[in-house]
Amino acid sequence: MTGYQSPAGFTDRIDAAGAVAASLSEILALTSRPDMISFAGGMPAPELFDADGISEAYARALTTPRRVLQYSTTEGDPLLRQAIAERLSRQGMATEPYELLITTGAQQALSLTCAALLLPGDVVLVEEPTYLVALQCFALAGARVAPVRCDGEGVDPSALDEAVRLHHPKLLYLGPTFHNPTGRTMSGSRRHAVASLAARYGFWIAEDDPYRELRYQGDAEPWIASLPEAADRTVLLGSLSKSIAPGLRLGWLRAPAGMRRACATVKGATDVHSSTVDQVAAAVYLTEGDMDGHLELVRRAYEERCDALLGGLVHSLPAGSAYNRPCGGMFLWARLPEGYDATEVLRRASGYGVAFVPGAPFFSGPADRRTMRLSFPTHPPSEIEEGLRRLRLAFEHDSTT
Ligand SMILES: Cc1ncc(COP(=O)(O)O)c(C=O)c1O
Repeated sequence: MTGYQSPAGFTDRIDAAGAVAASLSEILALTSRPDMISFAGGMPAPELFDADGISEAYARALTTPRRVLQYSTTEGDPLLRQAIAERLSRQGMATEPYELLITTGAQQALSLTCAALLLPGDVVLVEEPTYLVALQCFALAGARVAPVRCDGEGVDPSALDEAVRLHHPKLLYLGPTFHNPTGRTMSGSRRHAVASLAARYGFWIAEDDPYRELRYQGDAEPWIASLPEAADRTVLLGSLSKSIAPGLRLGWLRAPAGMRRACATVKGATDVHSSTVDQVAAAVYLTEGDMDGHLELVRRAYEERCDALLGGLVHSLPAGSAYNRPCGGMFLWARLPEGYDATEVLRRASGYGVAFVPGAPFFSGPADRRTMRLSFPTHPPSEIEEGLRRLRLAFEHDSTT
């Protein structure tokens, strides 16, 4: 965490959050060459946005300009709450519209949860590694973060039990489905184990779930928020960023009444409400557009891109590397053999015109510097193959190991 200059007069919390961001932006600065094939960004593929369908939804929303250009309620536009509640209910998470607070992305849903729940010094337990911007949120809240050991199935329940007894956390933050950064999905039995521990010890869970709609293989696992043991202590954070488009900046928070009201209070004081016109256009798209048909195209394209990456990785990473096979989402997690440092590898790889994100900034405890996150949606298979060729060259000519 170097290179961050503390602006005079700002709080330690701003410094801490700024340091988290700086650790990544220094790395990403390496990846800005125009012809770069980048496995670094966490962005959906823009050519796969349903631009016509979304434009049409905006046009329809604007047929009632006096309504959609006006202020609205903090909780969110009734049409959008209804549309999201119906979609969640159809997918197995029984939800009434009043149980949702519409937010400016899942990111704001997490910020509101932190502001509503956390006092400086409170402990937040996180998967190790975890989503970097969540670490920023916890730093801004003045919380102390403690990592919990994970394996291929997600959080290790015995490690969680131990961490809870040691740290007395107020919140456990999880990305159970197509986790950022690892791409891993938590198994059903682990979800139940986590829910039981939350009930036994009385901590809150933030279930951050922006990637759920991007499943291309296997069956969905239940939401932790749907399990009876954890239903009264789980805040479910959802998003339209990955299922429609991130520029809408729309998400939601589904939480028990007290928590939902607290988050609505914070939101009212923060931005009054999320954009009315965007909310209504999203509601029109969800109810009248071909969201499911379009999402299926996106899933198939991402699956193909994921397969292209998986197909070539074995020849591009050094022998002895390990990586997972995600069933959905946008990320794959790899670990290089002993002696490699992924940040050093990135310096070299960026010279060859290929980029990824080293895993180190995603760790809240001691970083595993051999790890790397590879994101596959943004390039078609032919470019992924070229990116893999460049990566292989970077390793072949690596004099650092
Ligand atoms: C795990 C996780 N949570 C939240 C977000 C924020 O999503 P949104 O665009 O809905 O704010 C992201 C974005 O990439 C993410 O990866």
